[in-house]
Amino acid sequence: MVEALDQTSNADLALPSIPLGYAIRMADLRVKERRAAVIRDCSTVTPEYECKWDALCRTDGSLDFDAMDEVVAFAEAHRMGLHGHTLCWHRSIPRRFLDVDPERFRAAATAYLSNVVRRYQGAMLSWHVVNEPLQITDGYDDGLRVSPYLSALGADYIHKMFRLVRTLDPQALLVLNEMGLEYDSPAAEQKRQLMLALLQRLMSEDVPIDCLGLQSHLNARDFLSGNHRNFARWLQEIKSLGLSIEVTELDVDDRDLEGDVEARDETVARVYLEYVEMVKTNARLSGVTLWGVSDEGSWLNTSGSRLAARPLALDAYLMRKPAWFVLQASSRQV
Ligand code: XIL
Repeated sequence: MVEALDQTSNADLALPSIPLGYAIRMADLRVKERRAAVIRDCSTVTPEYECKWDALCRTDGSLDFDAMDEVVAFAEAHRMGLHGHTLCWHRSIPRRFLDVDPERFRAAATAYLSNVVRRYQGAMLSWHVVNEPLQITDGYDDGLRVSPYLSALGADYIHKMFRLVRTLDPQALLVLNEMGLEYDSPAAEQKRQLMLALLQRLMSEDVPIDCLGLQSHLNARDFLSGNHRNFARWLQEIKSLGLSIEVTELDVDDRDLEGDVEARDETVARVYLEYVEMVKTNARLSGVTLWGVSDEGSWLNTSGSRLAARPLALDAYLMRKPAWFVLQASSRQV
């Protein structure tokens, strides 16, 4: 049984804590109870969708900032750190720019990035400058994903984009965000080594990067049956580079667990505890964001799968699950 904390002691309140947050949608801010849960639980927020290129881009290619402005105003009103997700991602390129010539793509991608970063300069705690740069099966020795960014801006597009964002926003922490680095598998180990080599290259060439973002989309059964020695050792190597780690999109897929809801929720809480403690122990952990406010809104439940996932800290009624209490306790650095 994961010990659910019934209340926070004064001593606990005095401890420095690791910033906790949720990925939010503008719709979350318009439902009183959901807005209240975000205000109660979060010291940071990440727009799940509203800052992505395809979310801002109108059919004529111009940018509509209304939704993101609302997210920024909310974060500022509640003194929350704001993580800008995400400036360069192969899956959020507007359709109109998918099959254009490289120069047109470069101009459009750079214009979107520059307009967004300039508009929100001073409001952002961090920018996820590049998301998911690696794809081993694309066949490049360095593991870089073949994307319109690589094709249009060259093999050093990551260097270029980080330098451009730093120029436009001297304050925000600059994050390279990636998925699938957390698992106990040969593929994940290969990806970890390629990521380490990429980070070493970027830093040796004075690219302004502050943090590696681990998306952390975990599977409960795989995590609990895995051996995480390689992951822990790799975290130490990232720490030795001087980079912090941000857990950027944490959720725990429980759909292949046995047992009733209560048992699944306890197992999910155990994964949250063990994962956050592992990262805290082996890395300079700068924050933890859950990918969503409550279970029914999770992206894992949008694929019409047979069983509803219960991957987050709040259930569909915004009730606090065991994972919520574990996160509150684990976020206090000791
Ligand atoms: C997902 C959102 O959760 C969905 O609502 C949206 O339709 C697609 O993007 N890794 C990422 C996130 O970096 O941006 C993705 O978010 C989930 C995977």
